[in-house]
Amino acid sequence: MSSSPTKLETLAIHGGKPVRERLLPYGRQSLDDSDISAVVEVLKSDWLTTGPKVGEFEERFAAWVGARHAVSFSSGTAALHGTAFACGLGPGDEAITTPMTFCATANCVLYQGATPIFADVSPDTLNLDPQRVSEKLSSHTKAIIAVDYAGHPAELNELGELAKQHKALLIEDASHALGAEYRGKRVGGIADMTVFSFHPVKHLTTGEGGMVTTSDPRLAETLRRFRNHGISSEARDRQEAGQWFYEMVLLGFNYRLTDIACALGISQLERLNSNLARRRQIAARYDAAFRDLPAGVLSALNVPGVREGVNPAWHLYPVRLNLEMLTAGRAEIFRALRAENIGVNVHYIPVHQHPYYRERFKSSSRSKETYPVAEDAYERLVSLPMFHSMTTQDVEDVIHAVRKVLEHYENRVVSR
Ligand SMILES: Cc1ncc(COP(=O)(O)O)c(C=O)c1O
Repeated sequence: MSSSPTKLETLAIHGGKPVRERLLPYGRQSLDDSDISAVVEVLKSDWLTTGPKVGEFEERFAAWVGARHAVSFSSGTAALHGTAFACGLGPGDEAITTPMTFCATANCVLYQGATPIFADVSPDTLNLDPQRVSEKLSSHTKAIIAVDYAGHPAELNELGELAKQHKALLIEDASHALGAEYRGKRVGGIADMTVFSFHPVKHLTTGEGGMVTTSDPRLAETLRRFRNHGISSEARDRQEAGQWFYEMVLLGFNYRLTDIACALGISQLERLNSNLARRRQIAARYDAAFRDLPAGVLSALNVPGVREGVNPAWHLYPVRLNLEMLTAGRAEIFRALRAENIGVNVHYIPVHQHPYYRERFKSSSRSKETYPVAEDAYERLVSLPMFHSMTTQDVEDVIHAVRKVLEHYENRVVSR
């Protein structure tokens, strides 16, 4: 891989032959016949929703991540809402979170009428920087909501300690990180509550779906009620006990996950270990190939950092462009990679830069605050395709296209 071709290949964006004939997406699900049979079996059963598959999925999931309780939700977003409710967030309260995430992480705070307070991220992992978090803690802080960006666990011990000192809870948005390990433990059994998403691009899918894991039985009970209108018992339990009586004890929602979805989740869980192993293999191949690029191109690309004691789950493989070493900006390089039929993406526009957040907080004293690490990273980020069913050829196509495009845009004046 290290020898430089004498003549540069013409980019597809300039009329050359694309590296691939068909677009390789940045992420996609993989379902097999056992998944389909599991769903069909439920479709023929008595329970399409809140039947036996829900409890079975929750129990197996809790055991897999190493938590005492797992409560399923209709999406990761609904699960986040559940955690914001369960930790008691309300008007006047604050939750500290990261701007480098999908907007749902911060939106759950707004759903509860509380205020999200952003703190900047660390340059290597783009995860919440505990130092920046400690500067934002106040008597209003009820929660710290960390995100395991791209599947790399946040600094859970330090953030947990900060939360404890302020009698706040640590919520971990592990939507990217099912199977990631932090200091020898899987995420899901570490924070006060951990949220997962089962959207199709994730490690395990139920179509839409989410889960909260916790080892606190009271939080688990609140989450169960919240996802079921705030009702104190479930319809199936009442039917089996021959009883009709129920009471609504808090204002909840219908955020239930169906038996159809849970059957798919149980079936997908069987392949989670092999899916994770494949993602780790792909990340290792990308790392090795990109470290072996010719010097000028090598200096134009930063691969994702991995901290000591962490085993990421690799939901994404976000590289950062060293724009000073390139003759084009991120937008053109993005278009060039797309023209090669590599389905790159960008994760994320920092949450505070979305129009809704700008408008809503424009009169707040915080509207002038900047988050330099997240904002700078956003200008440089490109997520390369990463999903467990990528073939060896798919991976090599991505490497080929990245090298082809970066060699074209390499700034030879700076790099030589
Ligand atoms: C970090 C993060 N949090 C929350 C969510 C929301 O999950 P869902 O799409 O299951 O509602 C996502 C979804 O992509 C996400 O990436």
